[in-house]
Amino acid sequence: MSDHSIKNAYRRYAGVYDRLFGSVFAEGRRKAVELGTAEPGARILEVGVGTGLSLPEYGNGAEVYGIDLSEPMLQKARERVEREGLEHVKGLCVMNAEATSFADASFDTVVAMYVVSVVGNPARMFREMARICKPGGNIVVVNHFASSHWALDAVERAFAPISNLIGFRPDYSMDEMLEDARLTLVSAERVNWFGYWHLAHFHNVPVQSTAPQAQLGGAYLGGRLEADPEHA
Ligand SMILES: C[S@@+](CC[C@H](N)C(=O)[O-])C[C@H]1O[C@@H](n2cnc3c(N)ncnc32)[C@H](O)[C@@H]1O
Repeated sequence: MSDHSIKNAYRRYAGVYDRLFGSVFAEGRRKAVELGTAEPGARILEVGVGTGLSLPEYGNGAEVYGIDLSEPMLQKARERVEREGLEHVKGLCVMNAEATSFADASFDTVVAMYVVSVVGNPARMFREMARICKPGGNIVVVNHFASSHWALDAVERAFAPISNLIGFRPDYSMDEMLEDARLTLVSAERVNWFGYWHLAHFHNVPVQSTAPQAQLGGAYLGGRLEADPEHA
């Protein structure tokens, strides 16, 4: 999707986003935040922070920054920070997750919730997340991936041509993400209603081949997976 169509889609969503996607996606957000804040005092960046639904969840002394391509979505996040007095939120700004202005290794954890299948170029976003995250730091992703069930797969493929309108790609697969990320997968589990979304935890350690991880990707469908205990 182009930046232009993303901005158009999320300008339309901004006023209704929390009502449409607040509680539906809440479990994934909560679990992603838990992973991101496991270490006390972590410096965390949330890319595609949207209306900031996750921001009240961060505790454990975390220092949180958020970026988004959509000014109207970010405006809702600013209002939330103000309204709820979220002092741990240190900055929110319009920035492209595929090309940020942060220095190398700026964050302990970089989180992307429901963003990977929205951005124009996920591989570019992962490269940028890896650059601005400390080596060995945490990269946490929550996303929907193309279903392996034939009927759902057919529905998702039918919706793919209108990605620009609905604001995400329903046919983005787990294997594509592993190939785009090329990072060390630590764990993954199903989250949200019917386990239709996945929470993936990577360590910021590059992998040469995604083949072994892609095989594990298939195993995601069975539930929680400990992919790389060496790096856990
Ligand atoms: C589905 S919403 C998710 C919002 C939030 N993370 C949540 O948990 O509800 C996707 C968000 O990603 C943002 N986005 C899409 N592409 C982006 C990019 N290249 N850089 C930064 N944000 C982007 C959109 O503007 C939108 O706010």
